[in-house]
Amino acid sequence: MAWKIVGGAAALLLIVLGGLAVATNGEPDRTAAFAEYRRPLAIPFPDDNPFQAAKAELGRTLFFEPALSRDGDRTCATCHIPGKDWTDSNPRALRNDGGVMDFRTPTLLNIAWIETIFGWDGKFRGLETVARLPLTASGNMNMPPEEMVRRLSTDPNYVAAFAKAFPEPVAEGGPVTQERIEQALATFQRLIVSGPAPFDRWVEGDVHALNPAAKRGFDLFNGKANCAACHSGWNFTDGSFHDVGVAGEGALGRGKFFPNSTALRHAFKTPTLRNVARRPPYMHDGSLATLAEVVDLYDRGGIDRPSRSRDIRPLHLSAREKADLIAFMESLDDNGAEGPAYQPIGPEPPRP
Ligand code: HEC
Ligand code: HEC
Repeated sequence: MAWKIVGGAAALLLIVLGGLAVATNGEPDRTAAFAEYRRPLAIPFPDDNPFQAAKAELGRTLFFEPALSRDGDRTCATCHIPGKDWTDSNPRALRNDGGVMDFRTPTLLNIAWIETIFGWDGKFRGLETVARLPLTASGNMNMPPEEMVRRLSTDPNYVAAFAKAFPEPVAEGGPVTQERIEQALATFQRLIVSGPAPFDRWVEGDVHALNPAAKRGFDLFNGKANCAACHSGWNFTDGSFHDVGVAGEGALGRGKFFPNSTALRHAFKTPTLRNVARRPPYMHDGSLATLAEVVDLYDRGGIDRPSRSRDIRPLHLSAREKADLIAFMESLDDNGAEGPAYQPIGPEPPRP
């Protein structure tokens, strides 16, 4: 008897709370969810490679410098193309001998907010260390490090730019070093930030910024469809690795480095969803051509196997719910806003 009364009271309380949760404009109260999605106020720079204007400017020049490739045929922007959200449209990146690489070129948008581990399978530790592989890999820029340093050291403009960006004296040799090339490139890449999207205006209180389908999609994303379990926060990634049931048996992903872990087998890094609608194809291997194919994969629950994430399961979405999820992802588009990477660089770290 006693617990029945308590149970009844609890049910009544729930009804009252449920009623309160509907705001006066007829929409659910999403205040708590919105708090997770606010854009950051500053770009994070690490203590061991802080922001410095001349270094960022030098990094920008190097990012577009063909002399960093042995045959002068490639730059970082050959694959990370600014006008294509710092990726390309190839399912897998192109080698310089006509072949393809194992992975699709990831976007560099919001790379400053990725902590520590980079690459689809997490092969890189720290943004500064990433450049070493594309610069030196045969099939890519194919550049021996000593030759790279030698080339830049014979160019007076570069010698002056390195001396300005790195005022500390060097123990031996000139101001150009491989480590400094990597530090300058990383500083520039941290300026690659996606601009405000309709979704951000909605989060900030403009109730008309999103259409009803996108709003329903947001609720699905955070609710029934469970997408926010991994695509979390304003950059829509947890920076972690999961098997969402895409990869073929041969593609080990993070599991390559952790052969004894079931959970990391076929696990790839959660990509950001900023500007996602306009940069197909999708997934680490570019195997899905459209967002509709991506949503269908999640609806099926991908490949059911022991490594598959516990957050992935068949969703049984209706056609309207699938369309709503896509409408939501479309609302993450910044309409080509040119962020700090495109702007003149001043003495203070630019705002994201
Ligand atoms: C052939 C095309 C190509 C070129 C040229 C290229 N990249 Fe990449 N980049 C890729 C691919 C493919 C990956 C994914 C590699 C992996 O996960 O193993 C990648 C990954 C990255 C990442 C990690 C992104 C993340 O989300 O973890 C960064 C940072 C990066 N590249 C920066 C650069 C820089 C700097 C240069 C120039 C020095 C460069 N890239 C040149 C294709 C390219
Ligand atoms: C268990 C974590 C997890 C969940 C839950 C999840 N994702 Fe993903 N998502 C990932 C990972 C990891 C990848 C990359 C997988 C790969 O390349 O093999 C990815 C890739 C994507 C991509 C492709 C992005 C690109 O640039 O290639 C889209 C779009 C996407 N997810 C949307 C969604 C939606 C919509 C949902 C909910 C229905 C969802 N995700 C649920 C982890 C997750």
